[in-house]
Amino acid sequence: MAEARARAAGVVGLVPTMGFLHEGHLSLMERSATECDQTMATLYVNPLQFDDPADLARYPADHDRDLALAEACGVDLMVVPGAEEMFPNPPLTWVTVEGIGERLEGEYRPGHMTGVATVVTRLLAGLQPHRAYFGRKDAQQLAVITRLVQDLGFPVDVVGCPLVREVDGLALSSRNVLLGECRAEALALSRGLMRAADRFDQGERSATVLEAAVRDAVPDGAMDYARLCEVSTMTRATVAGGETVLVAAARFGPVRIIDNVFLVADHHGASADRGIRLGRPSLIYGSE
Ligand code: PAJ
Repeated sequence: MAEARARAAGVVGLVPTMGFLHEGHLSLMERSATECDQTMATLYVNPLQFDDPADLARYPADHDRDLALAEACGVDLMVVPGAEEMFPNPPLTWVTVEGIGERLEGEYRPGHMTGVATVVTRLLAGLQPHRAYFGRKDAQQLAVITRLVQDLGFPVDVVGCPLVREVDGLALSSRNVLLGECRAEALALSRGLMRAADRFDQGERSATVLEAAVRDAVPDGAMDYARLCEVSTMTRATVAGGETVLVAAARFGPVRIIDNVFLVADHHGASADRGIRLGRPSLIYGSE
């Protein structure tokens, strides 16, 4: 990593990923390439953030395709650190963002957010970017990283970027290729969130009503949570608006899906941010 950093000049942007790139990742890389002199991306499937060994074992990978896609999106340097380089010794130092990282995903995936925060800290320390790009798809992860950068004083701007969806609304995720015949069923989660976003646009502000719109769309037993939260703290909000996000997670077959809509209101008015929809099937299905 030190060698990679030494080769980068000017304003350096970083896009951390776990590979099996899709249009969501590529949108972060394109944004960094537009805003920075040089863009570095990392590809590292971080074992510290997997609470389920089976999930880690089946995590999809296609390195050659990833390298070609990243280059086409303006990435100057793709960093693919080995486990040895990342952590020459099993880490004794862990980064836990209390509260923000312990709710929601932290409850359902014990240790997950600490694994994310620890590896992102390692990447920021090793690569020292000026700007680091993360997707709003992982709203809680973005809140955790924003806070750890503040608390530890990393001189980096954390940039949150729009959530990218497939043609039918499913939030893009590398794991979507593992859905198989559960894919149609999995659409229930984004459908529920879109209904909640519509209700918000029609003036509904009650957390209970908006959360119920999501829950009602998802089959019994699949839902982990649907919760309206303050964006920066991920504490529950009872009223939508200001800076709130309706986050949800559910399980379909072997895949756990997380998704959200940002519900924001300020003096300019209120708007539900549903993200961006692709106009064609995602490239991840091309390699099946
Ligand atoms: P990964 O899931 O590969 O995602 C890498 C980056 O892409 C994250 O910032 C994520 O929020 C963003 N992303 C994923 N799906 C997206 C979508 N549909 N729209 C927009 N952005 C999307 O998130 C991780 O990896 C890891 O936790 C990591 C930060 C790399 C640490 O290991």
